[in-house]
Amino acid sequence: MNGKITVFGAGNVGGAVTRRLIERKLCKKVVLVDRSPGKAEGIALDILEASPVDLLEPVCVSGDDLEQTRNSEIVVITAGATRKEGMTRDDLLKINADIVRQCVSKAALYSPYAFYIIVSNPLNLMCHVAMRAGQIPRTRISGMAGILDASRFQYFLSKELNISVENVQAMVLGEHGEDMVPVPRYSTVAGIPVTEMMPPGKIDELIARTRDGGAEIIRLMHTSAFYAPASAVIQMVAAVVMDKKKILPCTAYLTGEYGIDGAFVGVPVKLGANGVEEIKEIELTDQERTALHASADKIKKQLALIGESC
Ligand code: 2OP
Repeated sequence: MNGKITVFGAGNVGGAVTRRLIERKLCKKVVLVDRSPGKAEGIALDILEASPVDLLEPVCVSGDDLEQTRNSEIVVITAGATRKEGMTRDDLLKINADIVRQCVSKAALYSPYAFYIIVSNPLNLMCHVAMRAGQIPRTRISGMAGILDASRFQYFLSKELNISVENVQAMVLGEHGEDMVPVPRYSTVAGIPVTEMMPPGKIDELIARTRDGGAEIIRLMHTSAFYAPASAVIQMVAAVVMDKKKILPCTAYLTGEYGIDGAFVGVPVKLGANGVEEIKEIELTDQERTALHASADKIKKQLALIGESC
């Protein structure tokens, strides 16, 4: 393991991911790549200039020389436009499909055996674009979304109950978007299902806020979230580089699991050194299953808009 991780996209998320990778000592080298001249270099230099104060080993390089990315173990794709107020993630579909296609087709030439973590939106579709562009096996590609959505739901639950976030686990499946499928039955506080801790109306209210989580941040600061998305990426990286074999809500390519074939959907995934090591099929009620299928059907319909097939 050469400990090299490449991050495409030196925007807010890419910069935050780079910084966190170094802080958590999850790599020996981070290569930050961006097509805007100087952007990756500036972020990298700013992080490196903090290293004497933070007492962190300088491990960040940057630039647009993809030779430096060769044989990365993990490639994180954050490149692409971000939403503005009033936009949905789907509004980014065409512009980001081209950007992700370009990034991953190049990245895969240098790092054909890396594990790819996709962050660019609309997430579920960008995973599909990346898989095709890089000819990446489905075990070596996953989208970061479920952890972010579940983390928001966990935070809202902990605030409502005035209980430590450490006690709260949540499950969110499906699309990273308006059709996401939070699953209260599998969301717990100290092992107790939240359905036994608050009335259905309150749960629905917190689910609605979770569904709107990304847009709420944009309304407040007029740009997309980046700390929480970066933390979610770090959890996925840690599971792979430390071979944690950890079950996490991630976006994976289904080929029949949950009765869904040919779409990247948020499901419980076991992440370890071999990437997506297992897709966990959990029992769903008819209502939950219907919602998951609706989420998948929407994703599959949108593929045609970018010339992709299931
Ligand atoms: C979010 O939900 C950026 O899609 C990301 O904040």
